[in-house]
Amino acid sequence: MNWDMFLAPYNQAVDELKVKLRGMRAQYEYGSMHSPIEFVTGRVKPIKSILSKAKKKQTPHNHLEYEIQDIAGLRVVCQFVDDIYTVVDMLRRRKDFEIIEEKDYITKKKDSGYRSFHVIIEYPVETIHGEKMLLAEIQIRTLAMNFWATNEHSLNYKYSGQIPIDVQSRLKRASEAAFQLDEEMSKIRNEIQEAQAIFRH
Ligand code: GTP
Ligand code: MG
Repeated sequence: MNWDMFLAPYNQAVDELKVKLRGMRAQYEYGSMHSPIEFVTGRVKPIKSILSKAKKKQTPHNHLEYEIQDIAGLRVVCQFVDDIYTVVDMLRRRKDFEIIEEKDYITKKKDSGYRSFHVIIEYPVETIHGEKMLLAEIQIRTLAMNFWATNEHSLNYKYSGQIPIDVQSRLKRASEAAFQLDEEMSKIRNEIQEAQAIFRH
């Protein structure tokens, strides 16, 4: 398998999508508006991780591009939970890719305590051989959800995916604490906005 050749369009897609999503943030900044996007990161899945996922899902190597949806991965981090839905709405209206799946792990969190909104898109990359459609995963989450997921991910790694049950339940509680923080921040934000509206009138 020629990995460089296989991964080239994914690298291209991640680079392009980072520019495009960061451009959305920049437009809010030019307009001196609150940006629903705090920051954007992106990565191409390392070959080792592609192979271990393929093994787990029993995906033959000629099906990787269809069955592994997050070879190209983008992450949009927001300040507030409401911002996530603003971003999702903007993604739905874009004409440079098609959303093929949405997973709302915010209203329906995962058993681990994980929260995030996932959007799987079909993204066209221009290659020297013509247009190539590929799948990419965009994860949209708040700073608090990102904080939790980043730490949980690294702990999972340290425990080789076998987090002891007591640690699991503490992580679940930590995820609730992170979510309460999000809700409190939203309340504070709404109260400030209401106060400002009264002040203007
Ligand atoms: P995958 O086979 O992992 O892709 O599962 P899936 O196809 O059901 O996709 P899902 O939307 O559940 O998860 C995709 C990605 O979300 C993962 O690669 C992680 O980046 C992230 N994710 C999902 N669950 C968790 C979790 O419990 N903890 C953390 N830290 N990240 C998670
Ligand atoms: Mg997936």
